[in-house]
Amino acid sequence: MKIQTVWSEKDIHEVESQGIAILLAEGFTPEDYAVVAQFVDTDFAAYLELKKFTGAAGSMLALPIIQNKKITKLFFVGCGKKDNENLNIETYRRALGTLVTTAQAKKIESLVFAMPQATQYGVKAEFFAQQTSSILEIAGYKYDAFVTKAQDDTQKDVVVTVCCGTNDASGARVGFKTGQIIAQAVNRERDWVNTPPSRLTPTHIADMAQELATEHGLKATIFDGKKIKELGMEGLHGVSRGSSQDPRFVILEYKSKKADAPTLGFVGKGITFDSGGLSIKPANSMEEMKEDMAGAGSVINSIVALAQLQPDVNVVAVAAITENLVGPDALKPGDILRFYNGKTAEVRNTDAEGRLVLADALSYVTKNYTLDAVIDIATLTGACIYAVGPFFSALLSDNTNFADKVKAAGERSGDRVWALPFTPDFKTAIKSEIADMQNVGSPSIAAGTITAAWFLREFVENNTPWAHLDIASSAYNVPNISYYRPGATGSSVRLLIDLAMQWKA
Ligand code: BES
Ligand code: ZN
Ligand code: ZN
Repeated sequence: MKIQTVWSEKDIHEVESQGIAILLAEGFTPEDYAVVAQFVDTDFAAYLELKKFTGAAGSMLALPIIQNKKITKLFFVGCGKKDNENLNIETYRRALGTLVTTAQAKKIESLVFAMPQATQYGVKAEFFAQQTSSILEIAGYKYDAFVTKAQDDTQKDVVVTVCCGTNDASGARVGFKTGQIIAQAVNRERDWVNTPPSRLTPTHIADMAQELATEHGLKATIFDGKKIKELGMEGLHGVSRGSSQDPRFVILEYKSKKADAPTLGFVGKGITFDSGGLSIKPANSMEEMKEDMAGAGSVINSIVALAQLQPDVNVVAVAAITENLVGPDALKPGDILRFYNGKTAEVRNTDAEGRLVLADALSYVTKNYTLDAVIDIATLTGACIYAVGPFFSALLSDNTNFADKVKAAGERSGDRVWALPFTPDFKTAIKSEIADMQNVGSPSIAAGTITAAWFLREFVENNTPWAHLDIASSAYNVPNISYYRPGATGSSVRLLIDLAMQWKA
């Protein structure tokens, strides 16, 4: 039971459907739902008033109508009110999320609506159509790979036809297709994160990355455990020592057709299961630790989408992938590791493993590529959940210009970020007497999300503008957002794609 989106330049009443949705913002007039008259001769003004449907955000009214002797469901969907000049796009996304959830619950198999005017939202039709198709498909997602007895065998995919309405058709058509590609990447990332940890091993992710790269024309280079060790990546190798699974270091490259295009680096944390290692996690904190590869999944799936969308910017995505377990050769508290760039760190807590694998990945990509900017994505700290809550990822950066671009990409795409202060005050937290740094912050400087970022900062070479996104807050089980489902959210995929698509030097 998924959503299939279809673009149409026909009139809404020309599309045969089991459900018709009318999207209305607060302050709507009967003219805004005049289209209903094409289906049924009823005075809705009194009914909408009786039912107190005002178009408020989150509201929805569903009723059956009889049309050519057939019953059709009519949905009035509230799109909220204007912030300043414009309606709010996040409210629109959630309105579509509510619509999809209701259609699925009511077992509607086909649904049609006319896309509202993009200008009401202060955006171009292309962008608006992109948001429309991507959120519909994101909202339709369900992870059911292991449900053998389909809860309802009769439930088919829901086909949602979106009519162009009064929008610029040529732009909207392109945007709609883009949105489908974005949603595919987001949903594939969600599939990976939701997959049980013993089934999604480092080799498995690397194999899927290789396959996707071949399919979409990306260059792929993959290092196994032996090569990782030879290259001096003791962070990634060290963390992998507690596991029987061989680690992988995945490098995917998208090259734009434009000469002299700028190059962006994406770096992802790929811990396919984080037990904490010998500094083992309590049972309840371990329950969801299959999500700890979300950063790797995000950078891999984002670059795959970019290979399809072909922006004028090159992208290198690297992912450091391993399990963090407690085997006989596991990393021990007190161990000192030497990373790819030669720096060393004292491991005080083996559960702070994300920064160890990212240290190698960041130094590898910033030493071997000339990058205009690099961003790493990681479910890095539990502290992040308390610092920013589930609706945001934490952004850390010492480069205002780049941070502003990441923030803007977050706002546009709906993958919102919240910048935490990144002043040098916090850096002393990772000082070590016996190595260049230690992998946990001192308790007197308790801001764990910020001190972890200072650790990563040590591995950004060649003055590359850098930003770090801690998605521990937003990657999994985000409540109350109508277009998410329990489990993985695909956090940061929309942001990364937008960042590359909108990149201006
Ligand atoms: N993978 C965890 C962080 C995490 C927690 C992600 C909850 C998603 C949800 C990370 O490796 C970790 O365990 N970090 C430690 C660091 C500490 C030992 C300095 C943490 O946050 O407790
Ligand atoms: Zn950990
Ligand atoms: Zn972790």
